[in-house]
Amino acid sequence: MSSTSPGAQSLFEPCTIGGLELKNRFMRSATWDATADINGAVTDTSVALYRELGKGGIGLIVSGYAFVSSHGQANPGQYGIHSDDMIPGMRRMVEAAHRNGTKIALQIVHAGINSGYLVGKGATLLAMSEMPEMNRPHREMTEEDIEGIIADFAAAAARGREASFDAIQLHGAHGYLMSQVISPLFNRRTDRWGGSAENRRRFHLEVIRRIRQTIGNDFPLMIKFGVMDDREGGVAQEEGIETSRQMVDTGIDAIEVSAGVGQVALTVKEGDPEMTPFRERAAAVKRAVSVPVMVVAGIRTLETAQSIVSSGDADMVSMCRPFIREPGLLVRWQKGDTAPAKCISCNRCFPIVSRGEPLECGEERRLREEAAAGSL
Ligand SMILES: Cc1cc2nc3c(=O)[nH]c(=O)nc-3n(C[C@H](O)[C@H](O)[C@H](O)COP(=O)(O)O)c2cc1C
Ligand code: SF4
Repeated sequence: MSSTSPGAQSLFEPCTIGGLELKNRFMRSATWDATADINGAVTDTSVALYRELGKGGIGLIVSGYAFVSSHGQANPGQYGIHSDDMIPGMRRMVEAAHRNGTKIALQIVHAGINSGYLVGKGATLLAMSEMPEMNRPHREMTEEDIEGIIADFAAAAARGREASFDAIQLHGAHGYLMSQVISPLFNRRTDRWGGSAENRRRFHLEVIRRIRQTIGNDFPLMIKFGVMDDREGGVAQEEGIETSRQMVDTGIDAIEVSAGVGQVALTVKEGDPEMTPFRERAAAVKRAVSVPVMVVAGIRTLETAQSIVSSGDADMVSMCRPFIREPGLLVRWQKGDTAPAKCISCNRCFPIVSRGEPLECGEERRLREEAAAGSL
């Protein structure tokens, strides 16, 4: 990259998360790639994908979400970290990223009532509350279920450390269990886990405490957090900010700001001008906490990335789809070709993984098929 680009240096300057030094302020946001086997274990296809990403000069890669309990799986081909059997494969994933000096975090999740995959298998889903309008077999979790899932999160984090990941990230966004717990739209309980904001954030604080007891205080722990809901009756921004503060006080080292309930993660679509829907929320979180804040969604140009970091709205920028189409995007930018990411936000990659096929850019596939048809 040209040394005269304004603000460029700050993007490619190191950043530290809970003692972990990163070479720059770019993050690959967690990306489910449907390459795990039927048990959730890493395969050769997964390793090849992470080896490629590892060459891309990204400060921190976050893995595809890994389920902490078998009743928490969201999608086909998703990684699992629910048993010790997963550790050797995860270690291979880490080695693939580390080979070229890239750091990697493990994202851990429980899907709660939001698991289309398990519904297809005839399972009864675990929900915070009964929600007849969801029209899928589920039951309200008992106190024992909730305690069990908290223990599962702690065990999953310990396995991640054991597998040599550089950090753990909780998935607290996009309508999965941690989003459901915090949102009055999904959490209608009247016991100590529901009702007041204090009760609805108890699960998060307990998960963080338990993980800290298990992996210690010297290991980076982050959360991808849907700070607020974008639906009437959901969590308001102020409450989300207070939850962010309390999570940091309890042991969170960084917050990646994303969608909660009511705004889909893939909110930026083909044809949209470049927009960063969560930038203001990230800036509000950043003003409230002392740890690094990342913002995800819609970042497609170096200019926008620079402006986010140099304005102080966030400490790091996080991207998902641009790295699906161009795992080497940053290398290109650093070499001076600063044309926008080739990703057009068309979401053609999503049906590919939804069918359980290994992740690839659907637009590249479409262009290939078109070219092949044209040459017949
Ligand atoms: C194929 C695909 C898989 C995804 N998997 C995950 C995931 O495992 N965990 C997660 O937090 N978000 C996941 N997301 C959401 C992205 O991390 C990101 O928040 C969203 O795509 C917006 O960022 P972008 O505009 O840079 O793509 C996924 C998105 C896509 C397209
Ligand atoms: S299919 Fe390719 S171009 Fe379309 S959103 Fe996915 S990565 Fe981007």
